[in-house]
Amino acid sequence: MTKARRAMQEDIRLIDLVIELLDARAVQASRNPDIDTLANGKARLVLLNKADLADERENEKWAEWFSGQGITAALIDARGQKSSRSIAPLIETACREKIERDRRRGIKNRPVRAMVVGIPNVGKSTLINSMAGKGVAKTGNKPGVTKGKQWIRLNKQVELLDTPGILWPKFEDQEIGKKLALIGSIRDEVTDPRELAVYLGQFLAAFYPGALHERYELTPEDTEAFSEVGGERLLIKIAEIRSALKKGGEPDQDKAALLFLSDFRSGKLGRISLDRISKGVL
Ligand code: G4P
Repeated sequence: MTKARRAMQEDIRLIDLVIELLDARAVQASRNPDIDTLANGKARLVLLNKADLADERENEKWAEWFSGQGITAALIDARGQKSSRSIAPLIETACREKIERDRRRGIKNRPVRAMVVGIPNVGKSTLINSMAGKGVAKTGNKPGVTKGKQWIRLNKQVELLDTPGILWPKFEDQEIGKKLALIGSIRDEVTDPRELAVYLGQFLAAFYPGALHERYELTPEDTEAFSEVGGERLLIKIAEIRSALKKGGEPDQDKAALLFLSDFRSGKLGRISLDRISKGVL
């Protein structure tokens, strides 16, 4: 058993609710399926973070899909106070059964304990920091609780573990690996930037051609040709538009690939969802 898995199992024993943070741009790829086993028997809440960077129509479809499965889920931007304030009531909804059970057993005022989990870069620390914003008390160690654990008291009913559970990115096929690299959850070194840029370009040409037309002045003919031939023309165009040139004035395709990836990650290409619900579900 890996160290990360063991640490997660230990922390999960302390809590009632697992808050699973996913990247709204890649809802399927950013999910670690092992969480179902790890969090077995715990209440669950799914938060689709970075919703501000994802396609609004796809966001709505994902939110509907989760609610159709009976899973409490919400779209958020972890950087904003507004999103973090809306989470406490969701936690209560997700834990309603536990709260009812406690009440029937005569247990009153025992707060629900929650923990944020997710793969790297989905926004776990950002979310915890926003939720721990001003006016939220931190509680110290408690008897029976592993030394060093701190709980953030969100309200009378809810306490949040101040350190997130880090899940490992899991992917069987290359396409999921590329999506994970695009959202920054696995390091770029794992995938060649040029290959990744071509994958992104082909995806955009198929689903968001407007993004390529607007930012890089590509014509519909360019993008069409690009999806057939596979990349070179796009990288050359980007290199020209962004003046990424080699010493002799030749377009620098490697530099163009990095610029393109950075434009995507920072939202400069617009709101884009890599996992589209119409393509299938979790
Ligand atoms: P992690 O703990 O899960 O590894 O993720 P972390 O909170 O470190 O967030 C990773 C990056 O994602 C950070 O950017 C953070 O600001 C950004 N981020 C988190 N939530 C959102 C969101 O809802 N929307 C958007 N647009 N960005 C979000 P960074 O560039 O790595 O760091 P920073 O310079 O922003 O601090």
